[in-house]
This record gives sequence, C-alpha cells and structure tokens, in this order.
Amino acid sequence: MKILAIETSCDETAMAIVEVKKDGKKVKFKILGSEISSQIAIHAPYGGVFPALAKREHIKNLPIVFEKVLKQAKLKIEKINHIAVTTGPGLEPALWTGIVFAKELALKYDIPIIPVNHMEGHVFSIFPKKGKAFTVDLNQKIFPMLSLLVSGGHTELILVKDGMKYKKIGQTRDDASGEAFDKVARMLDLPYPGGPEISRLADIERENNISSDIILPRPMIHSKDYDFSFSGLKTAVLYLIRDLQKENPNVLEDINIKQKIAREFEDAVVEVLVYKTIKAIKEYKIKTLIVGGGVSANKYLQEMMLKKIKENKLKTKVHFPSRELTGDNALMIAIAGYFGIKNKKSRSPIKANGNLQL
Ligand code: KG4
Ligand code: ZN
Repeated sequence: MKILAIETSCDETAMAIVEVKKDGKKVKFKILGSEISSQIAIHAPYGGVFPALAKREHIKNLPIVFEKVLKQAKLKIEKINHIAVTTGPGLEPALWTGIVFAKELALKYDIPIIPVNHMEGHVFSIFPKKGKAFTVDLNQKIFPMLSLLVSGGHTELILVKDGMKYKKIGQTRDDASGEAFDKVARMLDLPYPGGPEISRLADIERENNISSDIILPRPMIHSKDYDFSFSGLKTAVLYLIRDLQKENPNVLEDINIKQKIAREFEDAVVEVLVYKTIKAIKEYKIKTLIVGGGVSANKYLQEMMLKKIKENKLKTKVHFPSRELTGDNALMIAIAGYFGIKNKKSRSPIKANGNLQL
C-alpha cells in the first residue's frame, strides 16, 4: 500500500510518500519521498507564525512540494492508494489548505482520504531512524506508553494504551513550552524560532560553569496533577529584565547576562517537564516514553530526561525523534495515517479542527 501524506498545520508545507507492508504484527515502511518547505524566514520578523501569511504560503507551496515528492518517489499519483492529511490541531486557515488540496486529488483520482491528528503524528515520529526503511512493531510489551509532546502550540502528557488508545493526563494551562522559548527569546532580542537560540546560549553558560544569582520559578512543579504553566515563568523573565534595566538600560548588550538568563530559563522549563514526566512514569508503570514535537530537539531536555530515568532506576525505554523529525513533517502523518486506516479512524470527518483532541 502506498500513502501520500500532507501536513500544513503550522508553518511547514510538508508531503511524504511511504510504501507499507504488513509482516505479521510488524509493519514495514519504506520512505519513497519526503519534502518539507519551511516558512521560518517569512514569519521571523513577526516573532511567531502569522496565520494569514501561513495560508498564503501553503497555497503557493503545495503544488511545488507535490511535484517534488512525486519526482523523488518516481511515482505517478495514480499509484497512490490513500491520502493522509492533517485535520488538526493547528491553525485552521493553514489546515484547510492541505485538506482542500487532498480533497481535490481524492476527487480527481478517486483516492480515499484518511484524516490524521497532528499530535498522533508526533507520537509516531520516533519510529523512522537513519535510512530509507523502518519497522513499527506495536507489540504489547511496549505498553503502557507515555508521550510528552512539546511544541510551539502544545505541551501535554498523553498516556497511550495497547491499541493506540490515548488519554491526556496533563497539559499546559496557558503557554506551550515552545511558545515560552519563543517569547523569552524575543525579550532577549534573539531571532525566531527562539528554542535553538536560547539553548545555544544556555549551553555556553553551562560550559562556563560560573555560579549565577539569577533565579526563576519552576511553575506548578509540586502541583498534584500533571498540568503545566509557562506563562508566569515568561512574566518572571520580563520583570527580571525590567529590574536589571533599571540599573543598567543597556544590560541586554551584555552577552553574559543573556547567557545567564537563557540558562536559568532552560533549566526551569526542563526541570518541570522532566519532574512531571518521571512522576507519571512511576504512577502509570510506563514501559515506553516518547518525547516528540519541536522542543524535543532540546539537547538539555534529552540529557536530563535520560539522567533522571537512570537516577530513579526506571527501566522505561526512552525514544526521541531523529533530529529532522522533531519538528513538523509529513512522514509522521503518513505513519499515523496507516494506523488510522487500521483503526477505522478514516471515517472521521475531513474538516479542519484547530482544537482537535487525541
Ligand atoms: O513541533 P514544532 O516544529 O511546531 C509546532 O507544531 O509548534 O515546534 C516548534 C517549536 C518552536 O517554539 C521552537 O522554538 C521550539 O519548537 N524548538 C525548541 C528547540 N528547537 C525548536 N525549543 C527548545 N529547544 C530547542 N532546541
Ligand atoms: Zn507539531
């Protein structure tokens, strides 16, 4: 079976084509093509994704990415058996562009459409490793799974039971972790997207290993639930910068200060994410942990997660996506789409839902 996947939920126009073969309980995927057209440069001046612009760019990019992915796969559209398309969550005007494109193809070439939840895509993003082929083996031994999904729009802890049944056990009550990285980066005059920039400065500061008197809160770390909150942390950075500027209006020209703030901010975010994840692993006796979404590229988060799993003597297997699949891509949509067909999710409506839940 060949699946064409389309992803336009945010600021990446992405398409992928996979060939799927079932071998007992194992499912073998061959990547025939995968293309991503990023709009980062277009949104950078706004410090975040600008929905109307994203829509315009997707409409422009979709036919180009489509031609590219078919060429890469050396295929004609007639050979495609299913079209998987992201229907949410995300920016609705952006989601619609991918859905309309998928519907036009489906009508013209008589191909069934499978609606895919973007977050389920991030869960499946950990399976492709290096190379053009990979196997997904959803044997019972890997369950219960826990998924920490951290991106520009989401921060949630999802319990995944056998049969890929999802239950959200916690989420951010305000800003997403990636959003907090982006907003704090803007306060520090760093370019968008802020995550990689903050992380780079924080790493330099950690290497310098000089003690710092900058202290930021760890919001909700000891709350009884699995929820998060990053808006207060962002405001704490704002007040900190304001106080420092009262003493020296040019304080942000001092790269050492920026590094110190970046480090303490990253420490705070990572500490809360890791603490709550470990707590959930213990409570739900989790066998497999999946960390996905743009923020999962964060090296310090990866390091601390592995360190705390070891310190707590947990046997949980931990998976992060390969670097190029931490952000939005269509390959993860193709995999989730395949399992969607199996789980009869293909009967859900094919319409954009910005707040679609798992
Ligand atoms: O999953 P993604 O590509 O798009 C969304 O669906 O939001 O995530 C993008 C987010 C941005 O907020 C970006 O700043 C953040 O992921 N990000 C990072 C890192 N790389 C990307 N945050 C922290 N550390 C990183 N290394
Ligand atoms: Zn995403």
